[in-house]
Amino acid sequence: MNVYCTKCSHVRDPLYVIKIKTQNGCAVLNRTVQPFIFWGFARVPNKRATFQKLLCDITVLNSDKGDETMNRLEGKLALITGASRGIGRSIALRLAQEGAYVAVHYGKRRNEAEAVVHQIRQSGGNACVIGAVLGTPDGIHDLFTALDDVIREQTDGSGFDILVNNAGIGQVITLEETTEESFDEVMKINVKAPLFVTQQALPRLKDGGRIINISSFVTRAASPSVFCYSMSKGAIDTFTQLLAKQLGPRNITVNAIQPGIINTEMNAGTLQDPQGQKYAAGLSAFNRWGEPEDIADIAAFLASRDSRWVTGQLLDASGGSHL
Ligand SMILES: NC(=O)c1ccc[n+]([C@@H]2O[C@H](COP(=O)([O-])OP(=O)(O)OC[C@H]3O[C@@H](n4cnc5c(N)ncnc54)[C@H](OP(=O)(O)O)[C@@H]3O)[C@@H](O)[C@H]2O)c1
Repeated sequence: MNVYCTKCSHVRDPLYVIKIKTQNGCAVLNRTVQPFIFWGFARVPNKRATFQKLLCDITVLNSDKGDETMNRLEGKLALITGASRGIGRSIALRLAQEGAYVAVHYGKRRNEAEAVVHQIRQSGGNACVIGAVLGTPDGIHDLFTALDDVIREQTDGSGFDILVNNAGIGQVITLEETTEESFDEVMKINVKAPLFVTQQALPRLKDGGRIINISSFVTRAASPSVFCYSMSKGAIDTFTQLLAKQLGPRNITVNAIQPGIINTEMNAGTLQDPQGQKYAAGLSAFNRWGEPEDIADIAAFLASRDSRWVTGQLLDASGGSHL
């Protein structure tokens, strides 16, 4: 079930709603607002941001988006890199909700990746974790050794269907501050890793499959404060178009999503600061920053058959920032 705020259209993390529902039930939720707010606050002490999130969920009517988008990915196997948290985590939950079996890749945070798998299973889906530190000599090998096991178990070896190249690092460094080390680091994780992940994925990806790359709106809106990060995402845009051309004959679509400012750890510094919040919200035509779920819904479309005639596209997902 997706829950969304009818005032601001933010899609809400079902985790919070499920916690509320197990305590008192959905009917009570809509009738008695205040006790839920205090209960939520008591259950998550010292987390004002979470409290505010609960407050927003509860003071507006919680609504079910309906089942019309469910199960578009039944029988599909998806690999999502960097799915232990942030945008990747939301994409994993969303594709699983659509019926895909999801390989939840993580770098260092195994516990968080296992929590994602647990949440998927609790919602009736299926998933597993795959650990591999990208940018290391063994990273790609570890990733595909584990994926091959999953492919064998889940598909009798026929291959997988959806690759989401999401894992990445942020880097707030100007041109003047850039060093060879900082340049190599961001290129290693944001460019070299998705390139070699994709190279290894291609023989395993079924014809008619999907590749979704997570780029950024900074390739459109010049942002010198994140100089080499922007260049790394520019490479992803070019990579996306090259791949789309190359893989057309196999009916594999390749697209990139370009998020704006999204509420993840990558932006924790900005979004914990009132000035930063004002800046982030003010960029978008909707006067709010993005939530990971805003990106996950786009990924679900691109992963589904509904997007079969869309390839080589760079989809701005910044809520109309810098229009
Ligand atoms: N947040 C934004 O505003 C925003 C905007 C535009 C584009 N993006 C892009 O969206 C993607 C996801 O961003 P996010 O905000 O969700 O980031 P995040 O919350 O910081 O999560 C990053 C994810 O990538 C994984 N990862 C990072 N380095 C890795 C490595 N060396 N090896 C393996 N896994 C690694 C992390 O795994 P572990 O935690 O397990 O190590 C984690 O799952 C990135 O490509 C980012 O550039 C984000």
